[in-house]
This record gives sequence, structure tokens and C-alpha cells, in this order.
Amino acid sequence: MTTEREQWRTRRGFLFAAIGSAIGLGNIWRFSYMTYTNGGAAFLIPYIFALVTAGIPILILEFGLGHRMGAAAPLAFRRIHQRWEILGWWPIIFIMLGIQLYYTVIIGWCVDYLAYSVRLAWGTDANAFFFKQFLQLSAGPWEVGKPVGLIVLGVAIVWAANWLICTKGIQKGVERACQVFMPLLFILITLLIVRGFTLPGAKQGLLWYLKPDFSRLTDLGVWRSAYSQTFFSLSIAFGIMITYASYLPRRSDITGSAIITAFSDAGFSIFAGLAVFTTLGFMAHTSGLPFEKVVTEGIGLAFVAYPRAINAMPYLPAVFGVAFFLALILAGLSSSVSILEAFATSLMDEYGIGRRLTITLSCLGGFFLSLIFTTRGGLFWLDIVDHYILQYGLVVVGLLECLVVGWVLGADTLRHHVNSTSVIQIGRVWDFCVKYLTPAILGFILVGTLIEEIRAPYGGYPRAATLLIGVGWLAATLLVAWFITTRRKGLDVEHLLEGL
Ligand code: ALA
Repeated sequence: MTTEREQWRTRRGFLFAAIGSAIGLGNIWRFSYMTYTNGGAAFLIPYIFALVTAGIPILILEFGLGHRMGAAAPLAFRRIHQRWEILGWWPIIFIMLGIQLYYTVIIGWCVDYLAYSVRLAWGTDANAFFFKQFLQLSAGPWEVGKPVGLIVLGVAIVWAANWLICTKGIQKGVERACQVFMPLLFILITLLIVRGFTLPGAKQGLLWYLKPDFSRLTDLGVWRSAYSQTFFSLSIAFGIMITYASYLPRRSDITGSAIITAFSDAGFSIFAGLAVFTTLGFMAHTSGLPFEKVVTEGIGLAFVAYPRAINAMPYLPAVFGVAFFLALILAGLSSSVSILEAFATSLMDEYGIGRRLTITLSCLGGFFLSLIFTTRGGLFWLDIVDHYILQYGLVVVGLLECLVVGWVLGADTLRHHVNSTSVIQIGRVWDFCVKYLTPAILGFILVGTLIEEIRAPYGGYPRAATLLIGVGWLAATLLVAWFITTRRKGLDVEHLLEGL
């Protein structure tokens, strides 16, 4: 049963929403740190290679599939063959009951930090403030503890914002919000870049960020990082882009939109890195510390290193604190809205439930489930679950998507569909990518990650924790997807029997 399908009001609106989904927290703190640790500007070579060999081909595939089937991921794959419906459900389940649950928590931290920025509440020891006072971090993943009140409040605000946007629908909600969020995000980052460049030490920071170290290119781990960053950053293998494209009108430029989305996302990552690294260069300059001590991975970059830099800023530090955390919130919200939308559209397509009810129940359920990541052990859980979903879930789904579309639906069938409606025509090289090259690379990456995993458990956590929390979480999402699919097959049988 399908509900009446809305459409994007304008192509620009669709592009803003797709780019909004792609640009997220991953672009602001993940990309710049990855570039720094993986050979500076030399990292752009594997990154662009990953974009061309996997990112853009899969984005064209997902846009093309959603557009052709006019449905979110589960129904789109079911329309290829009933057996593959699970390939639509699995990512939808693991993004909503995985990524979204901790992603909203991180945006929730940003909401709290936005308020802290006004009076630089983290004080002189931003590290102790973040880990001890704010997160109240426990000793390890098994010491879960209670949810932390202020974090719960931030997360509730984020879910409420998600609810507000998505209940309004595609045009009035998602499209409108992204058309405001994206330009505003760009303005804020530009402001931070201008500020960064005018600080002493900025040039040094840029050198650290971009100085190419080509010797790193012989390390396979660098190439693996480029691929996982591409997947996460472009929101591919999430089921989101299939859903968003299902709301496109019949005449839509699929290939052009995929190329614009991919390059806007990559360009924004490099751009945001300029804001982060000029400011960190300033930090190193004023503190006299070596740069390796100033720059930290992932969340440390946003919640420890950046607040420290804000402390040291000579004029209006609070303004730049607010700008930075507001930028993170906007980038995060436009991505979390896309996850919720992909999940809710799948439910609406499947069960024909109304939008308001679907979104309300999803937000309520999502909020309660995300509480596990607001506990004192939440950061450990977040880190482990994130690793398994990104390194295994996304890569396996991306690989299977290529194989199913390439071999079952037929790469040429989808290519003809895409070409029939796009300005730029894709050639057989795309078929080659989808059928052979991209799956081969993804398979290779998967094996490499598995070997590394067998050698030593991820992140130095106890093996039991990685198995139970990480593998267990991913397996549970697969089980839910399997349950939904088999139940649905059961319904079909009942329906058939009724017809007899
Ligand atoms: N694509 C989103 C990000 O990069 C999920 O954060």
C-alpha cells in the first residue's frame, strides 16, 4: 500500500536536501583530521579516487534507483526482486536504530555547548570539563551508569527539531529547512575561516593540514580511510539517497545532481578544514605546544581543541564559539532529518501509515533508544557501534547494492533510465564500475578490515565489548530487517490465500 507521494518543489530544493544530508558532522571534524593523519594534501588523491570509483557511481545508482522505482529503499529493492527487499530494510534500520541514535546525541552535545559558548563555561581546562564534568565519563563500556540530565535535554531538543521539520513534509519541512540551513552553514564557516586566517599561527596550521606526504600513499589503511569517509560523508548505502530521489519529478537530471552533490560535499569538507586548522595553528602558536598535542581526533577536536582555541581568541570569543557550534548543529540537523525521513518514508511506503503518526512514533522511540548514548558509558558505546556500522554495515550494503543493481536489475537497464532523463550521459564505464570495479574494491576493503579486527580488537576495547556491543548491535539491526521482511512475505501469502 502506498500513500500519495509528494515531490520536491524545485530542483534546487532537492539539491539542498541531498547536499544537506551529505554535509554533516563528518565533514567538519572527521575529514580534516583524516587529511591531517593520512598524508595532508596527498590524502586528496585516494579521496578523489574513492569519490570517482565508488562515491559518484553509487550516488548515481541510488538516485537512479529511487527515481525509477518511485519508492524508498525497501520497496525499491523489492521491485527488483522480492528476495532483495532486506537490502533496503537493513541500512534503513541500522541508520535509524544505530547512527541516528548517537548522531542526535552528538548534536545534543553541540546544543549544550552552544549555550556554554556564551560564557565560555568550559573554563581553562576544556578537556577535564568535557570528559569529567559534562560527559561524566565512566571507566569503560561496561560501566554504563545513568543518563546525564543536561545531555538528555540537548538530545530532546534535537529530536523535537527533527519532529518539527519532518512532520511538515517534504516541501514545507525538509526542503524549506535545508534551503535555510545550508546557506547559513556556509556563511558561518566562511566567518570562521576569515577569523581563522586573521589569527597568528594560521599559516602554520594550514601547512600541517595540507602539506603533502606522498609516502603515506603506500599504506593501504589510508586508502581504506578514504573509502569509509566517502561513504559516510556522502550518506551512501544509508538508503537516504534512494528515498530522496523517489520524491523527484519524472524529468530530473539524475547524473548532474549526483555530480553536484558529490563535489559540493567534498568541497565543503576541504573548506571547513581551513576553518579548523587555521584556528588550531593559532592554538599551537599561543600555547607553545607542539601541533600533535593540539590536534585531537574526532569529538576531541570539536569539544576540546576548538573550545581551547576560542578561549585564546582576542576579540569576541563567544561569537566564534556560538558560530562554530551553531554550524555543527545545522550540519548535523540536515543529516539527521534525512535519516528520519528515509526511515519514515520506508514505513509509510510499506504500511500506508500517515506521515504525522509515523514521524511522531519514530521520534519518540528514537529519543528513548538514544538515551543509552547519554549515559556515563555512552561515549564508549557510541565509538564501538559507530565503528561497526561504518566499517562493516555501510561497506557490505554498498557492495551488495552494486551487485544487485549490476547483475539482477542490470546495470544497463538502470543506465538507460538515468540517461533518458539526465543532461550528462553516462557510458558503459559506469556499468563496469557497478558490476566489477566498485564491488571488488569494497570486498578488498572489507577483507582488510576483518584481518585487522582479528589481529586486535577495535580501539583497544575488551574483545567481549566489541563483539557484544558492536557486532551484536549490527546483528540485531539485521535481525529486525529480516523480521520485517519475512513478516511482510507472510502477509503476502495471507493475501494470496485470501484471493483463492
Ligand atoms: N553524511 C553525514 C555526515 O557526514 C551523515 O555527517
